[in-house]
Amino acid sequence: MNLLLRYSSRAAVICMLALKTFTADAQSTVIPIETKNNAIVLRVGDDKRLSMVYFGGKLANQSEYSAVPKVTKLDRYDNVYNSAYTTSGTHNLLEPAIEVTHADGNKSLELQYVSHKFTKLNDDVSLLSINLKDSLYNFEVTLNYQTYFNENVTEQWSVITHHEKKDVVLNKYASANLYVQADSYWLKHYHGEWAQEMRPEDEQLNHGIKTLDSKLGSRADIFQPPVFMVSLNKPAGEDDGQVLYGNLEWSGNFRIDLEVDPANGLRLIAGANNYAANYTLKAGVAFETPKFVYTLSNKGKGEASRNLQSWARKYKIVDGQGPRLTLLNNWEATYFDFNDAKLTALLKDTKTLGTDLFLLDDGWFGNKYPRNDDHAGLGDWQVNKAKLPNGIGNLVKVAKENSVKFGIWVEPEMVNPKSELYEKHPDWIVKQPNRPEFYMRNQLVLDLSNPTVQNFVFGVVDKLFVENPDLAYIKWDCNALMYNAYSPYQKNQGNFYTDYVRGLYSVLDRLRAKYPKVPMMLCSGGGGRVDYGALKYFTEYWPSDNTEPIERVFIQWEYSYFYPALASSNHVTDWGKQPIKFRTDVAMMGKLGFDIVVSKLKPEELAYAQGALKTYKEFSEAIWHGDQYRLQDPRTNDAASIMYVDSAKNNAIMFNYLVNNRYQAGSHLPIKMKGLQEDKQYEVSEVNLMPGHNSSIAAATYSGKFLMTVGLNPDVRDGRNSVLIAVRGK
Ligand code: GLA
Repeated sequence: MNLLLRYSSRAAVICMLALKTFTADAQSTVIPIETKNNAIVLRVGDDKRLSMVYFGGKLANQSEYSAVPKVTKLDRYDNVYNSAYTTSGTHNLLEPAIEVTHADGNKSLELQYVSHKFTKLNDDVSLLSINLKDSLYNFEVTLNYQTYFNENVTEQWSVITHHEKKDVVLNKYASANLYVQADSYWLKHYHGEWAQEMRPEDEQLNHGIKTLDSKLGSRADIFQPPVFMVSLNKPAGEDDGQVLYGNLEWSGNFRIDLEVDPANGLRLIAGANNYAANYTLKAGVAFETPKFVYTLSNKGKGEASRNLQSWARKYKIVDGQGPRLTLLNNWEATYFDFNDAKLTALLKDTKTLGTDLFLLDDGWFGNKYPRNDDHAGLGDWQVNKAKLPNGIGNLVKVAKENSVKFGIWVEPEMVNPKSELYEKHPDWIVKQPNRPEFYMRNQLVLDLSNPTVQNFVFGVVDKLFVENPDLAYIKWDCNALMYNAYSPYQKNQGNFYTDYVRGLYSVLDRLRAKYPKVPMMLCSGGGGRVDYGALKYFTEYWPSDNTEPIERVFIQWEYSYFYPALASSNHVTDWGKQPIKFRTDVAMMGKLGFDIVVSKLKPEELAYAQGALKTYKEFSEAIWHGDQYRLQDPRTNDAASIMYVDSAKNNAIMFNYLVNNRYQAGSHLPIKMKGLQEDKQYEVSEVNLMPGHNSSIAAATYSGKFLMTVGLNPDVRDGRNSVLIAVRGK
């Protein structure tokens, strides 16, 4: 008999109306989850176990999904390799997605299908929830698959609940457990350090488990970010090959296991890291895991990126379809050494340059322990009276007089031991009660799992907005990792890592409820918090403290696989030896800002920067909301090339950079453009030239077909290290 009918509920009936399920054989039912190009096919077996029998290109005829299990022959002797949520303690011997200790101390779990419910949230977004229960214990898990049809993106998470007599301990609690089959699997993942974010590494996955993880507590990354891609059968190119991108939406410890199993399938299990995090769960309380977002492309890395970028702009990043503010930041211009007079001059420079906003960085607070360097003051969010006797309000006013907006830096989750906050509230601080303190950047982390501390952190930011209603921007930093992870508040220390991140999100939820659209940049000693869990609350992220432009070409290139350009805060600074043109051209590939001493610019440099801001405005629609095409990889070419095309295919801009200084390195051949309309005419010309410089490329008109088939040589070479080509539709 059809299992769906045998175990149907009202919910399943709702589902049957909207989502067809099919009988695979006499004993099982398949549940297809489709997006525009792909399908995930789940099967309820005759033992009521839920497995994943297919993840790949979609079939034209839905009823054929029921034939998939017949040809894939995934039933092994223990029948669980391809489990949709692998349990432990019974006959699974591979890596589990969930591991629990029941109230009676028993550690076994068998999850069986009960019902499923399909909800269409709008034309694009649907949610499939599948309820699974243990037959012996009053313990259940709901698997959620939220699909974004047009973007080919799925977000997956689990909700765990029980009604046992005492607390249950969750020892592992993955968000998603996927199963894919291919001849070979090619992983691209990333490592790094401070100022060395997003260094890629490629490897073929062999039998056994490759784990990507982090254990930093207060953020996901310094050594390894929660993003990766797996190509199936062969490493995918920009426009060919099948590739799966994944990203855990969680700003704390993560763990992604990629296990090639004895049947040559790839078992992918992703979630918050269970390291030192056995979670004690009370009866009746729902434990919701973070979301794991993924997209599968059958046409290479370019399409996968555009899918994810478009999803992020529409559904995840704050105001992803809105504009962004250009800015002047004072961090590298002054560091901690400023006062009213210096800032007033910088506010005037903001206007002279032509940026929208001035961003006051670290150093504006602390009185008993003034924040004059990074050893003191963190936690004491009162304006430093010696530096700024007229308060922040006066700076906001001067900004207004100069027709620019004003933004400010905060790091509200942290505390210096040299601070009044540390003296008053030792019980708010993450540290071992009986061991010496250990610092990163001379600071400690506040215990955000404690609701009182959450109120404090909310209050720090809220007060700034209440006192300065014109405050237009926040840069939210988080510099320290969590050493000596111990919460004075928690009864069960195993709950701490999870509840810290939940506490952070609860503060951000409250702030976003009150200030829904105000732009906020997410910084974490560079790119430590670039993940979609945090980006849900922010308009942009800080990719790296490393702003040397050649380094940036590489760093921004790798981020571009997973994140949209409008979220990448790129500041022109004095790092490195490259001229202002190169630095600005590189920063223009995302959300443009400056962190330089404007008054020290030569007249031609200032004129160039002012002109660049105008070019940026002209092409901002393409850069912020258009489609991005990576044309030439800096790792395999002398010249890197990337272009952005607006959604109307009318305006496009191509960025080209010399990344190799060997003799005669450069772009020797035309570079084929992408994303244009074949039969449309485009005028092509070089823009963003230094005043007085002429281009070696004559402006000309070509068809889209020509530019995409023959291409255009930007003539990148020594002396023409960065070349921007405007492609204007006629
Ligand atoms: C971190 C950030 C910098 C700057 C300093 C201020 O290092 O990455 O951009 O804001 O903090 O202390």
